[in-house]
Amino acid sequence: MAGDNQGQSPPSGWPGHLWLEGRTIVHLLDEQTRPTHMPRGPAKRTGPGFLNPAMAPARTRSVLLVNDALQHDWLVRADQSIRILDALCATGVRIRRWRNEVPGPLQQRLRITANDLDQFALDWAKASHQKHPPSQSVNHEPEDDRYGSNSDQVFDNGLDFRNKDARIAMIESGFQWIDLDPFGSPVQFLDAALQGLSRTGVLEITATDTAALTGSSASSQARRYGAKGIVDVYAHDDAVRLLLGTVATSAARLDKSITPLLALFDGHHVRISCLVQTSREKASKINNSIGWRVRESDVPYRFVQHPTPEQVERASGPMWTGALWEKGVAERMTEQKVLELCMPSEEELERMRAQGLEWSDEDIEYSTRELRRSVRYIADAADLMSREHLLLNLDSLPRWAGVGGAPKVEKLITSLIDSGHCAARVPDLEPLIATDAPFDVVLSHVRKTSPSTK
Ligand SMILES: C[S@@+](CC[C@H](N)C(=O)[O-])C[C@H]1O[C@@H](n2cnc3c(N)ncnc32)[C@H](O)[C@@H]1O
Repeated sequence: MAGDNQGQSPPSGWPGHLWLEGRTIVHLLDEQTRPTHMPRGPAKRTGPGFLNPAMAPARTRSVLLVNDALQHDWLVRADQSIRILDALCATGVRIRRWRNEVPGPLQQRLRITANDLDQFALDWAKASHQKHPPSQSVNHEPEDDRYGSNSDQVFDNGLDFRNKDARIAMIESGFQWIDLDPFGSPVQFLDAALQGLSRTGVLEITATDTAALTGSSASSQARRYGAKGIVDVYAHDDAVRLLLGTVATSAARLDKSITPLLALFDGHHVRISCLVQTSREKASKINNSIGWRVRESDVPYRFVQHPTPEQVERASGPMWTGALWEKGVAERMTEQKVLELCMPSEEELERMRAQGLEWSDEDIEYSTRELRRSVRYIADAADLMSREHLLLNLDSLPRWAGVGGAPKVEKLITSLIDSGHCAARVPDLEPLIATDAPFDVVLSHVRKTSPSTK
């Protein structure tokens, strides 16, 4: 039953210094410098126990997604719990954020297991959790285990810590939600994750091997993902679709199908979240959603199931060509929701300051901005990303339209919407838009809204 690790000595370097991610206090190692509020790209790792602050937006969206599943009952019934595993939890920031930031009664339905092979990182996670327990008490038994080797304790406030190879931790118990956040490629963990999931479950995956996924490293792309890429304005979207395609085909081999809930290229990593269901019938239809992107001369690209020998050179794939998001889920990922769940109140901040957190008005302003940024454009693009759409990079449109400069993205979107089409900005560092307007119609709007058009 519930226990704690009182009596165990704190990990070396403890307590480090304090940082706030969402509404959760984080202990950073002294050798890790205080993050900026908008860290981007791969950070310099300072050894075990390093927290990558650039992953904060992905962790924030994970809090929102878990909350959404519980609040809208799309994974389990309203009277059931979700057994959730962070298979590579490192210092436990994600699990602690799930525990702290999913509110009220929903929290009682979350059974959280945290695993990592690195004992130091795990000790850091345990010490952080004990030092800053969640405001409400949640307790649960260790997860049942297929092989009878339950962990001997579940910490107060219901975190079941395990120190195993992730592949073993995933397979040992049946989880309805698995988060996979490895260094680099997730492929080595994929089969175990799919087999560790219940008949219906959520799989969230982070992949930082973007050179392989985009095709800028052609050999690792071919080896790891069995694919061929083209590094152009579609490389980010291709990377997302390639990872989804890899998960879908691995799932189909196990009679499982996937439904993407949210899939994004976020700076230096790809993050996908999908519903995985055991269904031979659905798994057999996988080929309807796998194909290639062929660059064309009359439109930027078309998806085809199989490229002709003539098309192969200007094609990337094979990749997922189906919908990328689930509309209902994505349109609830609003700035209002993220602030409601993840922004600390003034009283909470006061309590944290009393515990030693240095958090100025500027920190409040920047962290609020960062929370908003983590969901920016998602709700507006939810409809289009959940169905067939045309993805366009604003900077490539003047060449197609024969005009001197790109229009302002908002102007083009408004112009398309005003004429009865759907159009939205897509979250990416590049100026991408999605639309259901035919390409020639888009070009006429580019000509109309371009600054070089009188
Ligand atoms: C990118 S970090 C995870 C970051 C964490 N999810 C977060 O949000 O802070 C990857 C972690 O995987 C762990 N790891 C690597 N190989 C593993 C394995 N085979 N089984 C379990 N953990 C492993 C490492 O110790 C490291 O803590």
